[in-house]
Amino acid sequence: MAYEIAATGRALPKNRVTNDELAKTIDTNDEWIRSHTGIGSRYIAEPELTNSGLAARAARAAIEQLAEKTGAAAETVIASLDVIIVATVTGDYLGGVPPTSCIVQDILGAKQAACFDIEVCCTGFIYGLDIASGLLAVNRRRKRVLFISSELLSRITDWTDRSTCVLFGDGAAAVIIEKTDAPSEGAGRRGILRSILGADGSGGETLIVRRGGTRFPYKTGEVVDKPPHVEMDGRAVYNFAVKAITETISLLLEEENLTVNDLAVIIPHQANARIVQAAQKRLHLPEEKVYMNMEEYANTSAASIPIALDEVNRAGKLKRGDIVMFVGFGGGLTYGGTLAVW
Ligand code: UT7
Repeated sequence: MAYEIAATGRALPKNRVTNDELAKTIDTNDEWIRSHTGIGSRYIAEPELTNSGLAARAARAAIEQLAEKTGAAAETVIASLDVIIVATVTGDYLGGVPPTSCIVQDILGAKQAACFDIEVCCTGFIYGLDIASGLLAVNRRRKRVLFISSELLSRITDWTDRSTCVLFGDGAAAVIIEKTDAPSEGAGRRGILRSILGADGSGGETLIVRRGGTRFPYKTGEVVDKPPHVEMDGRAVYNFAVKAITETISLLLEEENLTVNDLAVIIPHQANARIVQAAQKRLHLPEEKVYMNMEEYANTSAASIPIALDEVNRAGKLKRGDIVMFVGFGGGLTYGGTLAVW
């Protein structure tokens, strides 16, 4: 059995905000943002847009791609989805009550699908790939999982804090993971090969939305000066991230007996070009093997890797049999990586 990424899709809000536009509202500038992060713009959701609405758009793009590939109608693909997972820390409702995945199910009309959300911050896509494959492995009847990563980070951003607000953007991307008869080992192997998942809970305070949960809830009558928002110790997260992705990339290659030359592309979490370049330098990775698009989208948390994957896929850059590596890190602190054969 193999667990293959059969289709990809993405969706972005209409509104693209450049660094220069942001600099009109806060004391920052294009030169600082580009030189410290590699970010040039981000997409910001209009007030009426919901996380589930954006997630459903990304899902439809993947569904239509699979429909086209298999010659089936989109409705048939929708009816074949056994599970819908949404990775998000910015779901429609507090605490995921109800889960955003359930709302997406309703929008799509995928009545037969089981639904749940996962919250693993920016590492959500990496964790979710294992969860999706595990769900397919554990039950013979399940064939397809729709796995969406969707974030409206602009809704938990402190727009008066220049050290965080320049970093984040909104976006969603979906993959359909399918159980197939292809081998997952040896010659002709396909799908998800191997993963590393990790966490260091002692670093939880370095990237945190402090208020609004059950530990520090808002109280009746309390005057709130700011809605729930991300606070970050940028330097600490930076140091963690460089170490986490460097070690994850080398361990994944070592465990699978591969070198970087065996890979078609490495798609890292798109938080900061400097983090990726530091890992690239330490591991002597050729620049053209590492895909980056944070210049356009900024950091969209769990959505960043699958948005990049969809770009690479739709640009026709992946051939059957290519080995792809995903590597991520984020709040928790969490990290992980996945090797997959296209
Ligand atoms: O998915 C995980 C999400 N998190 C991350 O990826 C964050 C990882 N960390 C980073 O990417 C970097 O630490 C940052 C990009 C957040 C910050 O870069 P830095 O080189 O660590 O800058 P810094 O925080 O040490 O700040 C340097 C200076 C400070 O000024 P002074 O104190 O030297 O005068 C800041 O006030 O840059 C100033 N600064 C800014 N200036 C213009 C901070 N933010 C800005 C800004 N525009 N947006």
